[in-house]
Formats: sequence, structure tokens, C-alpha cells
Amino acid sequence: MIRLGIIGAGFIVEEMVQKFPKSNQIAINALYSRTFERAQTFCQKHKLPEPVRSFEKLLENCDAVYIASQNNTHYEYALRSLEAGKHVLCEKPICIYEEHLEHLIAVAESKNLILVEAQRLWTKQTFAQVKFLIKHQEIGEILGLEASLGSAGQRLEKRVLEYGGGALFDLCVYPIFAFLYLIGDIENIQAYAHFFETGVDDYTMISVQHKGIIGNLSASFNTNTRGELRINGTKGTITIPKIFTIHDDVYIQKENQQIVSCQQDSLDMTLMVLEFSNYIQGKDLDKYQLRKEFSIKSVEITDKVRQQISLVYPF
Ligand SMILES: NC(=O)c1ccc[n+]([C@@H]2O[C@H](COP(=O)([O-])OP(=O)(O)OC[C@H]3O[C@@H](n4cnc5c(N)ncnc54)[C@H](OP(=O)(O)O)[C@@H]3O)[C@@H](O)[C@H]2O)c1
Repeated sequence: MIRLGIIGAGFIVEEMVQKFPKSNQIAINALYSRTFERAQTFCQKHKLPEPVRSFEKLLENCDAVYIASQNNTHYEYALRSLEAGKHVLCEKPICIYEEHLEHLIAVAESKNLILVEAQRLWTKQTFAQVKFLIKHQEIGEILGLEASLGSAGQRLEKRVLEYGGGALFDLCVYPIFAFLYLIGDIENIQAYAHFFETGVDDYTMISVQHKGIIGNLSASFNTNTRGELRINGTKGTITIPKIFTIHDDVYIQKENQQIVSCQQDSLDMTLMVLEFSNYIQGKDLDKYQLRKEFSIKSVEITDKVRQQISLVYPF
């Protein structure tokens, strides 16, 4: 049984705990978070063991770590966990800087440890289905993809520069993943952003290209962008409303008609944990390699966009 240690006790950990698979392969064994009292309340609510008071104590009580604290903490926690011989499942964005991810991968590989970015879209069946529809020319030749995600009045802590906040790293990683997964490698990037007074981007828009197929990818904290994915072909358009949000049922439309309903997509986090435990047990390693490549591509792109829009973090 793999003993999982969790870092954080916020929004996404609540999702994770509720969707945690009932499995004899992996179980939550310990939790550590910045504010002990909040972690304690959280653990009582979810009938988890009493939280530990330090990161070192967490490492003593687990074989693998799920990092779900703020973005600015991911690299250091991942590095220290790997150095301590623990496998790592890290929330998106796994790293802000490309060289940080390269270093984590080198450490993981040198110690034969698994390092996975918790990108929920990877385990959404919708994506596999849309890819199938595209491949079988359901909407003819693909000319473009539009993906947007956002809502006005997002939580204020997502705008804190010191936490690695901002629309690019909190939200736009999903549209970027959609393009990489459904269309292919991104060849040209032109990014534009609007900035909030705290110094983070609150609206970012990226134009991209892959072999002539064009993409418009955007995310915002401050406007109600559509929050959907559209793939435009010469014989029609596939739309997936609400693909990026965590709670909605997902369905695929062609023009205005629903063609596929994908309710199992609510299992994305459950499947993610099961995949992680499979990789640790040496199963599905081809999939693991592919997944790692997607994280590398994604960080390369966000790092380029970050530089283009002059988003500078104090860490
Ligand atoms: N996969 C997804 O769908 C998804 C969705 C949302 C977020 N995320 C990602 O998950 C991460 C957390 O987001 P969230 O929305 O859950 O944030 P959140 O609700 O603000 O929770 C963050 C948690 O991390 C703790 N924390 C902060 N700094 C810490 C540190 N240095 N050491 C240990 N614990 C620390 C906080 O403790 P306090 O009690 O002290 O604040 C809090 O419990 C982010 O990286 C985000 O990008 C992923």
C-alpha cells in the first residue's frame, strides 16, 4: 500500500479527498498545511488522521507526496520530496520556470522516482473522444481551436504575486493543454495580457499555431469569458461547454446538437490518483512518459508567455 502525504488543505485538496479512490493500492496517510488549525479542522471534517506539524514529519510518514499548496511552493516541495526518496504528484502548474522542471525530472530519474503533474484534463475521457472525432474527420479539416476559461471576481489569493498567482498559471494552463493534446506542438506564440494592480496578469490571451492550424487561448480572473472549447473544421464545429471547470457535467456538441455526454469526467481526480499509483508500481510507463512530455511542453510555453507579457515573480 502506497502511503500518500498531502501538502495543503484548501479548495483542491477538498476535491481530492472527496474523490479519492477506494483502493488497496494507495491511501492518505498524513497531511501537512501552513496553518495547523485550519488543517486540523479540515482533517476532522474529512475523517483524516490528525495533521502533522512540519513538512519533515510528513516525509517521515509517506512514500509519495501530493503537493497542493500555492504555486510558489511547488518546486521546493517537489525537490525536497524527491531528494527524500518520495514519489511526487504535484498540482498544476508543476513549475513556473522551465529550468526548475528540467532539474526535478533529472532528480526523479536519477532516483527512479515518479514525478507527475496533476493536470486533470489528462484523465478526462472527453479529450480522448474529441481527439477520436477529429482524427475521423467528423468536422472535416481542422483550421482552428478556441479555448477560454475565466470568471469575474475570482478568489483574491489567486491575485497574489508572491504566491505565483495570475491567470496564466492558474487558468490558462488548461487551454494550453487542450491545444497541445488535441492539435499538436505549438510553433508560434504571441501573447498579450492585462495586469491587475498586484502585478499578476488578470486577463491573458495567446495566439498560437501548429502546422497552419491556429489557436486562440485565453484566461481571465476579471471577465466572464465563455469557458468553453471550440474546434473549428471545414465541415463543422465541435464545442465542449464547461470543459475546464471542475463540477459541471461535460458534453460534446456538433453545431448545436449534443453528440456525446461524458459524465464519467467527474472521476478525473479519482483516475489521476489511480494512474499515479500505477506508475509507482511500474505499470503504464509509456503513458507516464507521454504525460511527462506534455508537462515539459506546457512549462516551455507558459515560460515563454510569461516572458513575453513581462510577468515577473519575486521568487
Ligand atoms: N487541478 C485543479 O483542478 C486545480 C484547481 C484549483 C487549484 N489547483 C492548484 O492547486 C493548488 C492549490 O490551489 P487551491 O485553489 O486549493 O488553493 P487554496 O484553497 O488557497 O489552498 C492552498 C492550501 O495550501 C496551504 N499552503 C499555502 N502555502 C503553504 C506552504 N508554504 N506550506 C504548506 N501549505 C501551504 C494553504 O494553507 P493556509 O490554510 O495557511 O492558507 C491552503 O491550505 C494551486 O497550485 C492551484 O494551481 C488545481
